[in-house]
Amino acid sequence: MALRKIMTEKEPVLHKKCRPVTEFNSRLHQLLDDMRDTLEEANGAGLAAPQVGILRRVVVVDTGEEMLELVNPEILEQSGEQDGPEGCLSVPGKWGLVKRPNWVKLRAQDRFGNWFEVEGEELTARCFCHEIEHLDGHLFVEHTDHLMTEEELEEKYQEMAALYGMTVPQLREQVPPARLQHDLKLAKARAVVVDSALRK
Ligand code: NI
Repeated sequence: MALRKIMTEKEPVLHKKCRPVTEFNSRLHQLLDDMRDTLEEANGAGLAAPQVGILRRVVVVDTGEEMLELVNPEILEQSGEQDGPEGCLSVPGKWGLVKRPNWVKLRAQDRFGNWFEVEGEELTARCFCHEIEHLDGHLFVEHTDHLMTEEELEEKYQEMAALYGMTVPQLREQVPPARLQHDLKLAKARAVVVDSALRK
């Protein structure tokens, strides 16, 4: 297991366009293995090569069911919309409300150069968009004019925990920050329905 250092926002490497991968050799395989380990260790949802200082079009995404390796990924289709707090391992402790498509289909190459297509919705779709932007030198902070601090995020969790009658740690286990806005809306809608039912 080899961990690579995750670059933060200030590093110029995060603001440059990455070149396509043309050689599917052992160096690429080592990079992918290290990125998987680094992502797992950091407990993130996705990681792009520039975040570990490599200007190549390589991404790993943890869908919760599998770890996807995406080489030279391109978005083919997208639909719907979602809005929620988004974070980045390169911008630690900060969250921003970012609108993304709710469904994304992309094509990419695997570590041996074979093209394949993959679809994702909700968190995975958000992650696809976020990671592919990294490959063009863009960060999620460009899509938001207000960055939430960890304290503001905690307040949102508290608001939702109260609505559900749960504790914040219980809730954090079930609802990742990127789902918070969506689930908070549902929780509020449910609270209103319960409230009006009680009044009858
Ligand atoms: Ni990121």
